Amino acid sequence: KQDNDQLIIDAGQKQFGATTCSSCGMIYSADNPEDNFQHTQFHQRFLDSIKYVGWKKERVVAEFWDGKILLVMPDDPKYTVKKAEDVRRVADSELGFQQLTLSQPKQARTYLFVNTERMVVGCLVAEPIRQAFRVLEKPNVYKDMTKDDFMEPHRAWCCSTAPEPALCGISRIWVFSLARRKGVASRMLDTVRSSFTYGSHLTKKEIAFSDPTPDGKLFATKYCST
Ligand code: ACO
Ligand code: ZN
Repeated sequence: KQDNDQLIIDAGQKQFGATTCSSCGMIYSADNPEDNFQHTQFHQRFLDSIKYVGWKKERVVAEFWDGKILLVMPDDPKYTVKKAEDVRRVADSELGFQQLTLSQPKQARTYLFVNTERMVVGCLVAEPIRQAFRVLEKPNVYKDMTKDDFMEPHRAWCCSTAPEPALCGISRIWVFSLARRKGVASRMLDTVRSSFTYGSHLTKKEIAFSDPTPDGKLFATKYCST
């Protein structure tokens, strides 16, 4: 009898109470005090991090009906670099990256997508690189996959050992959960390609993604093949 009660309580917490906050996007159960506390802690800090107050000098590299893309360079005014770092930190914590520093901070360029509500809903960090290792597509992957493979979507990707020339490495790409599948990431990449090297347009082959997540790989595969 007691076991049954416990089961019902657990199910209640997991299924019935799950809410997505319509401002910060966090999924939590409103009737769990611990979850509520965590949400309260996260909510304001997150919204502050992605809030864009407007800069005196902003480098607009693209404009759209639903927002604009700003480019932040390492030697830009402190307050702009700080905002870029704040957003990158939000992205990193969601991606589970521990390391908060960049491999070449002096060369990194941050692209921020600011929407019409003045929120930074997209962040992309690009760095110049010389070579990359292609993620191998295995044509027979499904045929050869065992049941365990299907259960393990975070499996390491298989990379070629032969380096290929590339010019621009995407070390981070992140879009706010409530703003996904609206072409924000695609538009940020298009903008990187047209603005990264002065006077020339990079092809899709000249950009490389570092360490893609499952979401990142689905996106990159789609983007690079269209
Ligand atoms: N599942 C399947 N297909 C997808 C997904 C997905 N999760 N995301 C994008 N695609 C494909 C779709 O075909 C999509 O077109 P459609 O919406 O018309 O079907 C196409 O890619 C273009 O997608 P966008 O709208 O441009 O991508 P979005 O703005 O949603 O951003 C991103 C994609 C950046 C991967 C986002 O989901 C995200 O921030 N995820 C969490 C963070 C993350 O994993 N980032 C990648 C890390 S890898 C790295 O940083 C190098
Ligand atoms: Zn919230």
